[in-house]
Amino acid sequence: MARLKLGVLISGRGSNLQSLIEACAEADYPAEIVLAISNEPEAPGLERARRAGIRAEIVDHRDFSGREAFERALDRALAGADAGLVCLAGFMRLLTPWFVERWNDRLINIHPSLLPAFPGLDTHARALAAGVRIAGCTVHFVRAEMDRGPIVVQAAVAVEDGDDAAGLAARVLAAEHRCLPLAVRLIAEGRVRVAGERCEIAGAAEPPPPLISPSPSGCG
Ligand code: GRF
Repeated sequence: MARLKLGVLISGRGSNLQSLIEACAEADYPAEIVLAISNEPEAPGLERARRAGIRAEIVDHRDFSGREAFERALDRALAGADAGLVCLAGFMRLLTPWFVERWNDRLINIHPSLLPAFPGLDTHARALAAGVRIAGCTVHFVRAEMDRGPIVVQAAVAVEDGDDAAGLAARVLAAEHRCLPLAVRLIAEGRVRVAGERCEIAGAAEPPPPLISPSPSGCG
């Protein structure tokens, strides 16, 4: 079966890109990365792509007259590489409705919260300040509104006593690295159907037991 061709957009560290690189290295994984693009010339993620033999390009938003010209350059590069799905993996630019429409249902984002809670930045500090006991991450199809769109995969991560934003972020990030490759796999296998603003997932296994925090064991 032909592998789904991925374009991955990054702005920084690229650890989620790395999780896709590793997934794509598995013989039975149904996707391959055809192009990684960073809008930040110094993004460490670019080196991760190059090390894996993946074409890595810089499309620096500062080189363009405006958002539209920047996005047209992104679009040209992605279409030129024949990408069938675009993954925003720590891509720190807002995309216009033009780009989002053009890649409608072929554009996913990974966000470090259980959306629709805590869209935007500083999610972990905000989650801790709100006193949530369960945090997490979300992979969703992108819509024009920031951090909104049909949800493909979520993971729940328990907040621990004494957590700070960095500690929580590290545990959520480990979950992100499982969720993004899983979402891509499900989409590549044709098991995700977008129905209105929800995703239907074909052939999903039995749901796991609820994550309860604090754990009832030891609470009498
Ligand atoms: C991740 O937490 C992702 O959810 C968010 O930005 C961060 C990017 O990390 N959108 P990395 O560059 O993939 O390591």
